[in-house]
Amino acid sequence: MKVLVTGGAGFIGSAVVRLAVSRGYEVVNVDALTYAACLDNVASVSDSPLYAFEQVDIRDRAGLDTVFAKHRPDAVMHLAAESHVDRSIDGPGDFIETNITGTFNMLEAARKYWVETGKPESFRFHHISTDEVFGSLPNDPAIKFTEDTPYDPRSPYSASKASSDHLVRAWHETYVLPVVLTNCSNNYGPFHFPEKLIPVIILNALAGKPLPIYGDGSNIRDWLYVEDHADALLLVVEKGEIGRSYNIGGENERTNLELVKTLCAILDQKRPKSSGSYADQITFVTDRPGHDARYAIDPSRIREELGWRPSVTVEEGLAQTVVWYLDNEDWWRALQQRHGVGERLGVKA
Ligand SMILES: NC(=O)c1ccc[n+]([C@@H]2O[C@H](COP(=O)([O-])OP(=O)(O)OC[C@H]3O[C@@H](n4cnc5c(N)ncnc54)[C@H](O)[C@@H]3O)[C@@H](O)[C@H]2O)c1
Repeated sequence: MKVLVTGGAGFIGSAVVRLAVSRGYEVVNVDALTYAACLDNVASVSDSPLYAFEQVDIRDRAGLDTVFAKHRPDAVMHLAAESHVDRSIDGPGDFIETNITGTFNMLEAARKYWVETGKPESFRFHHISTDEVFGSLPNDPAIKFTEDTPYDPRSPYSASKASSDHLVRAWHETYVLPVVLTNCSNNYGPFHFPEKLIPVIILNALAGKPLPIYGDGSNIRDWLYVEDHADALLLVVEKGEIGRSYNIGGENERTNLELVKTLCAILDQKRPKSSGSYADQITFVTDRPGHDARYAIDPSRIREELGWRPSVTVEEGLAQTVVWYLDNEDWWRALQQRHGVGERLGVKA
């Protein structure tokens, strides 16, 4: 099977590319190489005969048509997006153009190719989305996001992703394009860009800097190891039912404060300070505008219909992640030089 993966030089896309190549898929990685991309993320597979790279922007429809005609994929896994909520608050325009118009271009390029190749039944357009489209949950463990939860996005990022989800469903209903969708909770793991919470905490801790916690740290996220997400995505593109969406989550709800304390405890063990704990560096900072209180995924559908299970607990995954950052300083030091990384973003609203 030949899969066209968009955003394959980013955090989750690169995990999909690495896993897919290791399982014998042919992979065409289509990525514009924005500030969030790093081709080192796929260095382990880039010499494989199964791997090809195309530097194309999904806002460039003609460029996408050329890629489809040249590579003739059996399936599309669409991950390319602007993904950082804080950046979406400061500059929503890029999120509208890439996440909405870019997805429209992907759908149209895929539809043209699918029609020209005789509408093969086996073709799939897999759209990768987020649980943030469902909005914010009350702090009640009995209430979780299911596939039927109404959409209620509250940030420019989540609104742009929600729009793209609607487009994908509409292309299925209207043009019968064989689509599948997934909505996943927060990911963490190796190659996570150093502007996101977990790498920021690890790297600030090591640098002796404050560990910034938005608001009072009570916001709850449901954490999933990125390689388990990649595994779920390959399962859905292969076995997911056409037109259906699947929620993916690790059932690992943590407040941000609990998460940061866990990371500090792992660091205290793996790279002890000369005195005290990394937790002494925790600092509460002004909250993000419109900060959603709680996300929690009910993954029953993907578990029961497709048999997916995460392979690691959050404690195992976080420990592996900390060790990865300790062992891969060259990777993150280079990315820390990129525009806006290390600055407090998203407070202008
Ligand atoms: N990170 C998470 O916790 C999470 C959770 C659920 C869903 N998602 C979704 O998964 C996908 C990947 O997220 P991520 O965290 O890996 O993002 P990321 O920011 O790490 O990577 C995004 C990739 O897309 C590429 N890209 C951006 N704009 C592009 C454009 N116009 N044309 C072509 N390529 C472009 C970037 O160069 C980058 O390589 C996104 O669609 C995101 O909404 C992320």
